[in-house]
Amino acid sequence: MQSDLHGMDVAAHLHPYTNFADHAERGPLIMDGASGVRVRDTEGREYIDAMAGLWCCDVGYGRQEIADAIAAQAKQLSFFHSFFGMATEPTIRLADRLKQLMPWPIARVFFGLSGSDANDTQVKLVWLYNTLRGQPRKTKIISRQMAYHGITLGASSMTGLTPVHAHMNLPLPGFLHLTAPHHYRYAAPGESETAFRDRLVAELEATIAREGAETIGAFVAEPVMGAGGVIVPPAGYFPALQDVLRRHDILFIADEVICGFGRLGRPWGSQALGIEPDLVTIAKGLTSGYAPLAASLISERVWSVLAAHEAELPQWNHGQTYSGHPVCTAAANANLDIMEREGLFERAAHQGEYLQRRLRETFADHPHVGEVRGLGLIAALEVVRDRDSRGTFAPEYKLPFRIFRRLLDKGVIARAVGVSGIAMCPPYVVEEADIEAIIDAIHETIDELVPAALRASH
Ligand SMILES: Cc1ncc(COP(=O)(O)O)c(C=O)c1O
Repeated sequence: MQSDLHGMDVAAHLHPYTNFADHAERGPLIMDGASGVRVRDTEGREYIDAMAGLWCCDVGYGRQEIADAIAAQAKQLSFFHSFFGMATEPTIRLADRLKQLMPWPIARVFFGLSGSDANDTQVKLVWLYNTLRGQPRKTKIISRQMAYHGITLGASSMTGLTPVHAHMNLPLPGFLHLTAPHHYRYAAPGESETAFRDRLVAELEATIAREGAETIGAFVAEPVMGAGGVIVPPAGYFPALQDVLRRHDILFIADEVICGFGRLGRPWGSQALGIEPDLVTIAKGLTSGYAPLAASLISERVWSVLAAHEAELPQWNHGQTYSGHPVCTAAANANLDIMEREGLFERAAHQGEYLQRRLRETFADHPHVGEVRGLGLIAALEVVRDRDSRGTFAPEYKLPFRIFRRLLDKGVIARAVGVSGIAMCPPYVVEEADIEAIIDAIHETIDELVPAALRASH
């Protein structure tokens, strides 16, 4: 049975972000059970999932309450859409609840199915907002290199990772990418965090001057970049950028897909980083991955313009069959019930402090860990040849990927990210002992693999 599945997978299944040759040789790692922070494969091996799936399973696996809510909704009303004014109870309740949960004045909630499509929705909202205000040229979207916003056309154009664009006519015209706020990699020698921050703010000013503010609709950012390497910007970065954006009447789209729902130690990543967004994208932690669901949250500022132009815009001509799917919104409500009842935002902050402290203590003097970074319950280590040069190992040796594979053998799922990073983003129910096990496994793996990586890099 196991080998049948392997063969079928290799022959039939096109995997996201998976090397073809590697997969043909190794085949899939097939998971079939999970509880808390642990997942189990079909051969009975157990792994600590230090990545919460794909940065999403905040409440942990195996929550009966969410499974029951999904089953009950599927039995009572498996589907009904929300076009033409139709609605279902869990979707109405969730929209109202999300408005209450947000610290900013949110007027409307539009449901999608993934972070990607929710970000594409934001692009349309920006275009509508500006067209209706009589500024139809104000369309460009400014993003950052190394950002990850997803893979639909607008979202992949916002994404600043070149492999996502290669050979696919991307990014689309009108999507610009500024320098990532990654001090460790992109600061000039001797440049302080403050000077680096000021240079990035000046880069934004110069970009607006070059392109013309009348052509720029929005700036989009993850509070802390996830897939790009868990990049925490320098202090004061977002408030300074936002001052510039406000002066030029440019909207701020906060991509809270990873950072939302307590991940950074505050309810919303934007609060942790000093952002006051006009549009907010959420997904992942909204259901903790128990069902696909995302939302584009629309501020009063944007909504008031849409609402004031009823003649030109009698209705919102946008929506997916499964926008506000009741099974998914029922899952989200049960997930939020758990987060509230168990105080999981606070727990994420508490366990996050432990994770950040223990990582910094463990790797403070490690010759091949150049930087430990992160905020709340998301972190990364930068693996380097030596601390002084900050050089990486030979790219063809793929050390971060090898670390990921060796960690799997040790029963830990982490992830290779950014230039040379190893990321962690565990479920909020992670215990101190799990954190210690994750850190020990990473430490041991780096020490085991670095000697051969050094030889391969000479
Ligand atoms: C910050 C961020 N935005 C958007 C997305 C895209 O979400 P999805 O994969 O659900 O389309 C991701 C996915 O990892 C993400 O990390």
